[in-house]
Amino acid sequence: MSLGTVVITGAAGRIGSAVRRGLRGEAERLVLLDRVALTPEHPAEEVRQVDLADAPAMAGALAGADAVVHLGGVPDEAPLPELMSGNVLGTHHVLEGARRHGLRRVVLASSNRLTGSYPAAQLVGPELPPRPDGLYGVSKVALEALGRLYADKFGLSVVCLRIGSYEEAPADARHLATWLSPRDCLGFVRAALTTPGLGFTAAYAVSANTRRYWELSPELGYLPLDDAEAFAAGIPAQLHPNGLQGGAFAEPEFTLPYL
Ligand SMILES: NC(=O)c1ccc[n+]([C@@H]2O[C@H](COP(=O)([O-])OP(=O)(O)OC[C@H]3O[C@@H](n4cnc5c(N)ncnc54)[C@H](O)[C@@H]3O)[C@@H](O)[C@H]2O)c1
Repeated sequence: MSLGTVVITGAAGRIGSAVRRGLRGEAERLVLLDRVALTPEHPAEEVRQVDLADAPAMAGALAGADAVVHLGGVPDEAPLPELMSGNVLGTHHVLEGARRHGLRRVVLASSNRLTGSYPAAQLVGPELPPRPDGLYGVSKVALEALGRLYADKFGLSVVCLRIGSYEEAPADARHLATWLSPRDCLGFVRAALTTPGLGFTAAYAVSANTRRYWELSPELGYLPLDDAEAFAAGIPAQLHPNGLQGGAFAEPEFTLPYL
């Protein structure tokens, strides 16, 4: 399937930069958005410096697009007003722009931290209720709820990828369960853009880690290839003593500085 014109928000970020490189040459046109300045590196690239808070600018940037990969926002724990503005209102502006301009697919960067308060011993799938491990996780619950609303009410095709731990290589015990390799990340994003017939879909984007505690969603059209176990020899195996999927992220001390 031809990708057509794809907009990437947060294109200057860690995952955005990798998705940009990965889709280069595949999409007819890549529109790269971020609040920091970017420089085009390919004839198919167009860059725009836009803040997610600017609803008209966001909608304008989505005009003529076929799909959007929304990666921009606050990527970790922060005061709730900051998360509401960056992750919730920002996502609303993306979805509203996509509705107005009739985009065929919206891919939203959700997070595993939306279920980080489940026990690590439990296999969790997207049908279980959210149990966020912090305020950041709460903002991703709202992001998914907005996606669901726009799918149910306005018929948008919305895929929420609950991204694991995006790293070149796993570095700690939690990563042995949660690692998302760059190759698998691109595979999930490509599938989320191209797999036909998806209505609202929430799916974990995690590598094929032997110790993973999330279910995969084969309907997404991508099965991961990498396994953190290949790195296990150099990593202490002991998970956080609280036994929760979020580990240290789920501790009160992680959120208290932001309250
Ligand atoms: N990295 C991970 O392991 C991971 C895990 C789960 C979910 N995610 C999600 O994936 C997405 C990308 O993560 P990342 O690691 O690349 O983060 P990142 O911080 O490297 O990139 C985020 C980008 O968004 C931009 N941005 C932030 N606020 C903005 C605003 N108001 N207007 C315009 N641009 C803005 C930043 O400038 C940055 O370039 C985020 O939504 C994050 O919550 C990441």
